[in-house]
Amino acid sequence: MDEYDDGSYGPVVLRLSWHASGTYDKTTGTGGSNGATMRFAPESNHGANLGLVNARDFLEPVKKMFPWISYSDLWNLAGVTAVQELGGPTVPWRPGRQDAESTACTPDGRLPNAAKGPSHLRDIFYRMGFDDREIVGPWDFSPTVFTNEFFRLLFEEEWLKREWDGPLQYTDKTTKTLMMLPTDMALVEDDGFRPHVERYAKDSDVFFQEFADAYVKLLELGVPFKGDGRLSLIYRLLQGVVVRFSFARHGFIAI
Ligand code: HEM
Repeated sequence: MDEYDDGSYGPVVLRLSWHASGTYDKTTGTGGSNGATMRFAPESNHGANLGLVNARDFLEPVKKMFPWISYSDLWNLAGVTAVQELGGPTVPWRPGRQDAESTACTPDGRLPNAAKGPSHLRDIFYRMGFDDREIVGPWDFSPTVFTNEFFRLLFEEEWLKREWDGPLQYTDKTTKTLMMLPTDMALVEDDGFRPHVERYAKDSDVFFQEFADAYVKLLELGVPFKGDGRLSLIYRLLQGVVVRFSFARHGFIAI
């Protein structure tokens, strides 16, 4: 139970926080991290969310230990903690999300489809309220360490279409062991995205800062914060002490 997949629960927990938030639709104000509706079918069974049951189950003992924290806040706080523990930037985090019932589940199709290109990325992320720079920012990275390596490889390597019968993928010309998806290639093929890939490939500090900004924005989409500064401070202290301690107990982080 202490180990998962590549050796850490961090990535799958981070992915849970992103999929819980990335359903936001700015036009209708529906979806987003407020609600944690992925607890319920049909959202839990949406193709993009398969596997995230592992992250939800992993956090369940923490919820039992601290029943007063909403699932929505817990999943986000765990994502923020994961980024930091994987060596990424410090991400400012605020509590204030409230859980909703299954009737608030979002329809399937709000999260990105890895097989598609630049216009799909814009459809999905503009719907949430992101611009081109922010679309490039909150991206996948190497399995258990948070770095700008993904952007360096994307920018510096030559990528060829993989020759096989499966869905379209790309592989690096040098070793033919790495893989990129069509949505990854869209970031270098598109004139609006490419300059940001180049900036992140060349400067890790810029990537860390802009990832943190975009990730905070993602986690806060549609959340009706009440602006209680004292409560926020208490939660932040808890992040430092209690919740992190319980993540450590479950093998999520080392303290
Ligand atoms: C167009 C946008 C995106 C697409 C198409 C995409 C697609 C994918 C796919 C296909 C996987 C592999 C899932 C599996 O193992 O079955 C994955 C993993 C992952 N994604 Fe994304 N992703 C996107 C954006 C993001 C963003 C914005 C974040 C973070 C804020 C993120 C974080 C992750 C992480 C951490 C994993 C690894 C999960 C694990 O190891 O269990 N992704 N993504």
